Amino acid sequence: MSKRALITGVTGQDGSYLAEHLISSGYEVWGLVRGQANPRKDRISRLIPELRFIDGDLMDQGSLVSAVDLVQPDEVYNLGAISFVPMSWQQPNLVTEVNGNGVLRMLEAVRMVSGLSGGSARSEAAGRIRFYQASSSEMFGMVAETPQRETTLLHPRSPYGVAKAFGHHITRNYRESYGMYGVSGILFNHESPRRGAEFVPRKISLAVAQIKLGLQDKLSLGNLDAVRDWGFAGDYVRAMHLMLQQEEPGDYVVGTGQMHSVRDAVRLAFEYVGLDWEEHVVIDPALVRPAEVEILCADSSHARTRLGWEPEVDFAELMRMMVESDLAEARLVREHGAALTGARW
Ligand code: NAP
Ligand code: GDD
Repeated sequence: MSKRALITGVTGQDGSYLAEHLISSGYEVWGLVRGQANPRKDRISRLIPELRFIDGDLMDQGSLVSAVDLVQPDEVYNLGAISFVPMSWQQPNLVTEVNGNGVLRMLEAVRMVSGLSGGSARSEAAGRIRFYQASSSEMFGMVAETPQRETTLLHPRSPYGVAKAFGHHITRNYRESYGMYGVSGILFNHESPRRGAEFVPRKISLAVAQIKLGLQDKLSLGNLDAVRDWGFAGDYVRAMHLMLQQEEPGDYVVGTGQMHSVRDAVRLAFEYVGLDWEEHVVIDPALVRPAEVEILCADSSHARTRLGWEPEVDFAELMRMMVESDLAEARLVREHGAALTGARW
């Protein structure tokens, strides 16, 4: 019989790649969607017609219990979150509720439906529903060492990072308290042509495409010196799945181990279309964050040895893929109008 997975955050970048990966591996996949007439539900159901949907919200405990009870999944992937870091300074309570307490609510739903009570002895029920938590390298914040690994001290620099640290610890705590099969994947930045336009690599690729076609002239950015370890989302969802296939649950850092600055990303993207970035990029101090994560770089040796996971797309290829996709989209819009692009992501 095929395995069944429930994904929260299915309408997001990672949810879409994970759903595709699991369906192609023979899973029956359910996505939790929130809100009335969520337009992103239409987008993902056009992309992945085999996907099934169930209503629910990480703010609403009852809806999560109902969803887990109805779907009876073998695996739950908790990807739902408010994922844009600057928003966590604007709405810190909301971000804490969704990204922090939302994890606890999802764990409680899994615990209740599995019939788990206290005591860490591993029972059959404890492993019945396996749980993946989307933790983040943002938790390392002001980094205690470089590269960062599973044991690196957490020092988050944003309310988003603090909420993610709670989610990380509570997942580990449910593993220790109830013997639950709970895994925390500490993923470093990962991007794709499906990435939200608010995140810097996609902001850059979209602007480069527009500038190349003469539809825009300037790109406003904040801190060009920030360094990230950027990978491809399609590679990272393979790691999520592998984490839940191991005999014992654990925590894993996932990244490429390569460091690049925002300036490198800008230079590469503009070079790809034969333009000089310095003629187009302007610095807007309003885009500089109240507290910055200056540098992130993953030591993924645990994931590489234990899971046999390797990234396949490097930084240059990633930026090329994103610029090409946005150029194709911008050309379509220019030639046929926005309506025709609805079938694309
Ligand atoms: P994303 O594209 O922003 O997607 C976020 C998803 O969360 C959307 O499907 C959104 O659904 C859903 N969501 C928001 N609030 C919700 C709520 N109250 N209840 C249920 N669902 C809710 O993010 P992503 O890049 O795919 O990231 C997936 C997860 O990995 C997130 O938890 C993120 O924090 C974490 N992460 C991402 C990265 C990265 O570089 N991408 C790195 C480390 C960790 P709607 O359609 O309803 O808005
Ligand atoms: N978004 C954005 N926009 N970032 C900018 C800009 C700009 O105009 N200019 C400079 N940056 C810098 C930010 O200050 C940050 O240091 C870096 O670019 C990356 O910003 P984002 O792309 O917004 O990603 P992030 O690192 O804050 O967060 C992403 O990665 C985390 C994992 O480390 C998100 O996906 C989080 O959800 C994820 O947890």
